[in-house]
Amino acid sequence: SGFPFVALRSLSKLGVPSAILEFLFGWVDAHEECAKIPEAKGSIGAIRSEAFFIPLYELYLRYGGIFRLNFGPKSFLIVSDPSIAKHVLRDNSKAYSKGILAEILEFVMGTGLIPADGEIWRVRRRAIVPALHKKYVAAMINLFGQATDRLCKTLEVAASDGEDVEMESLFSRLTLDIIGKAVFNYDFDSLTNDTGIVEAVYTVLREAEDRSVAPIPIWEIPIWKDISPRQKKVAASLKLINDTLDDLIAICKRMVDEEELQFHEEYMNEQDPSILHFLLASGDDVSSKQLRDDLMTMLIAGHETSAAVLTWTFYLLSKEPSVMSKLQEEVDSVLGDQFPTIEDMKKLKYATRVINESLRLYPQPPVLIRRSLEDDVLGKYPIRRGEDIFISVWNLHRSPKHWDDASKFKPERWPLDGPNPNETNQNFSYLPFGGGPRKCVGDLFASYETVVALAMLVQQFDFQLAVGAPPVKMTTGATIHTTDGLKMTVTKRIKRPIVPVLDMPTLKMDSSVILS
Ligand code: HEM
Repeated sequence: SGFPFVALRSLSKLGVPSAILEFLFGWVDAHEECAKIPEAKGSIGAIRSEAFFIPLYELYLRYGGIFRLNFGPKSFLIVSDPSIAKHVLRDNSKAYSKGILAEILEFVMGTGLIPADGEIWRVRRRAIVPALHKKYVAAMINLFGQATDRLCKTLEVAASDGEDVEMESLFSRLTLDIIGKAVFNYDFDSLTNDTGIVEAVYTVLREAEDRSVAPIPIWEIPIWKDISPRQKKVAASLKLINDTLDDLIAICKRMVDEEELQFHEEYMNEQDPSILHFLLASGDDVSSKQLRDDLMTMLIAGHETSAAVLTWTFYLLSKEPSVMSKLQEEVDSVLGDQFPTIEDMKKLKYATRVINESLRLYPQPPVLIRRSLEDDVLGKYPIRRGEDIFISVWNLHRSPKHWDDASKFKPERWPLDGPNPNETNQNFSYLPFGGGPRKCVGDLFASYETVVALAMLVQQFDFQLAVGAPPVKMTTGATIHTTDGLKMTVTKRIKRPIVPVLDMPTLKMDSSVILS
């Protein structure tokens, strides 16, 4: 290792063509043992049977921060090293595309912001990021509160009927309701309804997830689309969603045409603060297909991820009652009988740490996908153009090299008065929202959304794993799901009657019985 690789990387960064680099450094390849990426040996068949990032963790402990995995004719580089992750995601991000991810998601996201690369990505990112300005995110806090309140009503019924609830699907509906309103001002109301459009969204989501773990892309066979009942259903669902989006775009266009508001940096229509409304009012010059692709992308990006974060947070809390008590104590003292406000977001420090820590143990998605567009050097290893790379955030977040008690759920590892942990201050050992130019555009939105939902729910209810519930195991699509749901017993926390006591000092009550 050493000099030749440093020199090679520097020259390549300076834009020296790869043909010249190959001529200059061709001899480097000859030094096999220092330049060859370790290859994981043995049967990969095992990987299909469980969440695929679990065996990748074992292989990481054995082969290190970068290794090659062969899958029949295909080969992948698995990256679990923070400095290589930083190089791919941030320092040399222009040399990487979304690769397989873009291929798999094309049918649903088209050239939306997540799969898009190059010029389309650049233009769309520049149009969309301003829509999520501070005032918008603050306005969303109210929406998070109202949507969570609906969920509380559902839970109240279950609690008084003594019925267990499956929280994973409820969280999925909560975040679907939120993202529909937030992105294009549509109320799915999926917590109470199962309308065609809600079912269509789930059909498409499941298909995207199945395709991302399927060994052979049978959906690419032309006639298959026309004869497979399942593919017909997917096509019909996509059509329904697209038609709905076209209607919403048309309605929103009319609103924008009629309004008197002047467009400016923190522009927001109070009746419709959605991202769509901002984009149309900004005069965003974009085809309706591209606009639809972006809306669909945000719908999916902001839905399953947040739902998964809440699911795993509640699972972790059920295993760690002391964290739950501490959390409820904070929530009781910060929230009155009002919905959370933007000011409360600063005060809910422990709740925020609980989410930070949940995102460490269950990153959503657990791997980031890239493909090299040119030759490059990763750590001490030269790589070719066209390599498919999986950055295992799961491995980064659970590496015994970087974390004490790596597998323990310990929100206290992040000091309450310290900075909010992110990829920059953790030097790419922690990247809950990715990093570099492709970092999540919804990070603040999602942090507030999950904190509001968490705070309101634990303020009003106690949660326990239901007796006799199936064991909670993981499986993957785009995010980490449970195999059989998260069945919980929910009980209403008791509001202690407020007895007026005259001339008495205020007593500190036992936190476990303080109220909602
Ligand atoms: C990208 C995580 C919520 C919109 C990403 C990436 C991650 C991520 C890790 C980077 C992907 C990559 O580099 O390949 C999360 C998590 C969320 C969340 C954990 C919830 C807790 C949201 C929400 C929105 C959103 C609510 C929409 C309002 C996006 C978009 C991108 C993205 C558009 C692509 C950005 C680009 O490529 O330029 N997200 N996200 N996400 N996220 Fe999120």
